[in-house]
Amino acid sequence: MHTLDEVRLDLPHLVTALPGPKAQQIIQRDGAVMSPSYTRSYPLVADRGEGAIIHDVDGNRFLDFTAGIAVVSTGHCHPKIVEAIRAQAGRLIHMSGTDFYYANMVDLAEKLAMLAPGDMPRRVYFGNSGTEAIESAIKLARYHTGRGRFIAFFGSFHGRTMGSLGLTGSKSVQQKGFFPVMQGVHHVPYANCYRCAYGKTPDTCAVECVKVIEDQLFRHTVPPEEVAAIFVEPVQGEGGYVVPPKKFFDELRTLADKYEILIAADEVQSGMGRTGKMFASEHFDLVPDIMTLAKGIASGMPLGAMVARADVMDWRPGAHASTFGGNPVCVSAALATIELLEQELVDNAARVGAHMKARLAEFPRKFPIVGDVRGLGLMIGIEIVRDQATKERAPDLRDKIERMCFERGLLVLGAGPNSIRLSPPLVITKDQADHAVDTIEECLNTICR
Ligand SMILES: Cc1ncc(COP(=O)(O)O)c(C=O)c1O
Repeated sequence: MHTLDEVRLDLPHLVTALPGPKAQQIIQRDGAVMSPSYTRSYPLVADRGEGAIIHDVDGNRFLDFTAGIAVVSTGHCHPKIVEAIRAQAGRLIHMSGTDFYYANMVDLAEKLAMLAPGDMPRRVYFGNSGTEAIESAIKLARYHTGRGRFIAFFGSFHGRTMGSLGLTGSKSVQQKGFFPVMQGVHHVPYANCYRCAYGKTPDTCAVECVKVIEDQLFRHTVPPEEVAAIFVEPVQGEGGYVVPPKKFFDELRTLADKYEILIAADEVQSGMGRTGKMFASEHFDLVPDIMTLAKGIASGMPLGAMVARADVMDWRPGAHASTFGGNPVCVSAALATIELLEQELVDNAARVGAHMKARLAEFPRKFPIVGDVRGLGLMIGIEIVRDQATKERAPDLRDKIERMCFERGLLVLGAGPNSIRLSPPLVITKDQADHAVDTIEECLNTICR
């Protein structure tokens, strides 16, 4: 006899205590040999995946609302992606696109150039990860402008190599022990309207978070003519899934143009349909000069891209390259990913995301520890606080919810000090979205009881 739960293969089903016996063995071996720098929030040992479902090594089934950290945009092992990878692997696995030509890399570059916000010509550089896309953007911005400094935002995450780490303003532990990272980065508060650094409300806001750049930085410490670019996430990801108001980007563009500074939009997490538009910048009519992509671009194959205005990407042969960047198999996966996104998944992200957000929007009224619910499409953050009036952060409660969800077969992760991040594959159904919201609600009910 099957229980109702067992026949719903699209929903979680747990058959062992967690972690199960096989998972325990692997975790023990991992602990002896893997880099201790990795952070694991709970003991999930993945074995295989399909759509929004992950099966662990003990036969437990989980609903994945992490998408491998916003990566498997088309779901786990989408048949069309698997087929694209197989076909390309049987034809050509590698030839180094920086030294030779092959067609699918050009196909993908043309596609990204066409999709990028704005109607000016674009050029594309390929790397293998988000941080490499950022490093290439840093180098291009310096090369093109002849300027050395950058502006970035507190709470931002741009990567962990020495240049991108210099831009990252997320957690000081990420910087600890690594000084000096790339110098010349000046951080200012992000447009986080729930926690306005200037004590303003949306009614009284005069976009102080952009004004401070001109009124304080440029006046006291940073000559604007030395600033190459402003790096900004259109929706702050690791910082807590923070969505700024449109006027933030309007003011940023005005300021950047005034001083001939480039805007580099880091769409590594917010891009590729996650927010219900192909790129989050489109929600704000932001036309970036440079845009960085990775994560969701190839459904789990390692690929990063930097898309820049053609007149900005004016560096010479030899200025920058990567052996593996634009690997043909990853490129094939990216082309298949974009096809699926355009066919239906960007729309699905918008539709299911709006449904989820409407339900989650009730939570601050229902639960005193939910301070804020925000997001676009399937990039949704829930901020957990000790008290709605003081907004005191409650990282311990956030961690507890994360763990409780895991014990109920729902995979979620944190973002920022005290927010829950919902970043499921863009293939999720309304039923799966409802199941996730019900599970989180059950955890909140237990904690607030
Ligand atoms: C906005 C953003 N930029 C850059 C990165 C770095 O990407 P990667 O981990 O692929 O180097 C991340 C990773 O989380 C990110 O969210």
